Amino acid sequence: MDPDRARLNQVFERNYGRVAPHTLLMKAQVRSIFDRLVDVRGLPGDAIEFGAYQGGLSFFLGLCIKDLGLAKRVFMLDSFEGLPQTDPGLDGPFERGTMVSDARVVGELRSRFGLDDIVDIRPGWFEDSVRDLPGDARFCLAHLDADVYRSTRVALEFLLPRLVEGGAVVLDDCVFPGATGVIRAADEVLGTDQHLHLGPKTQAFVFPKGDPRPQRPAPVWRSLGGRRYDLADLLARTDYLELVRWEHAYYDDHAQWYRNYLDLLTGAADGPESFRITDRIGLVRRE
Ligand SMILES: C[S@@+](CC[C@H](N)C(=O)[O-])C[C@H]1O[C@@H](n2cnc3c(N)ncnc32)[C@H](O)[C@@H]1O
Repeated sequence: MDPDRARLNQVFERNYGRVAPHTLLMKAQVRSIFDRLVDVRGLPGDAIEFGAYQGGLSFFLGLCIKDLGLAKRVFMLDSFEGLPQTDPGLDGPFERGTMVSDARVVGELRSRFGLDDIVDIRPGWFEDSVRDLPGDARFCLAHLDADVYRSTRVALEFLLPRLVEGGAVVLDDCVFPGATGVIRAADEVLGTDQHLHLGPKTQAFVFPKGDPRPQRPAPVWRSLGGRRYDLADLLARTDYLELVRWEHAYYDDHAQWYRNYLDLLTGAADGPESFRITDRIGLVRRE
């Protein structure tokens, strides 16, 4: 393996391990954001996260920026009061007031990670907090993880004029089951002809002002929810495909298990399958 790649892998593994308990993101999603940081590391501008919850991803970026010796900061924006009012038609299962976190605890964690000079925490609703950011702020990397339409729209409207040429925007919850708010906001602000790359799980990423990568795979287009996504980057990661296959089998199995268990609890079934379930949950069936 080339030494630069080996070192980057080490930086990723070490810092992911440190922040994992403080982020909702799965490892593959964090890796995809790390890869975008590597893509844009030579560009001017800072990083910004809209929707930080307990701060894990912003701290991950701060630790990597430090390890890679980059002259960049991370702006962390969150209400710390959870999600705002949502639009049920667009935001599906996301609900107001979920994912409340504690700004004081997040601030203490920042100090423990030694990131007081790198991560700038901005509590408040995006509508207000973006107004207090430095007037000359420019960004090369943004992680949008606010789940819902209105918040994503506010974030993108602020971000787009301040994104440098070649800068990357990573959108979480772009392909979330039952929610279309994030992709709707992206289409409205960035345009429907944007080259959206599918990332792991619910993630997509885009270089709205041009792709800075000198070598990039030929696009592999697939349609999902009436929109085209380029899967080339994702398909290059065979480990991820294996994980999805495993998850699919796991949840299929568990869906069946819960169907049977519910039947048992509601008295809808009392056949031999019930014995199997009671065995598995450690209960003794009364005759
Ligand atoms: C899914 S969580 C973020 C997860 C986080 N990125 C991580 O790595 O675990 C979504 C966050 O977005 C925040 N949020 C959503 N809309 C917001 C808004 N308009 N203003 C401020 N915070 C917002 C919520 O408070 C919540 O903490």
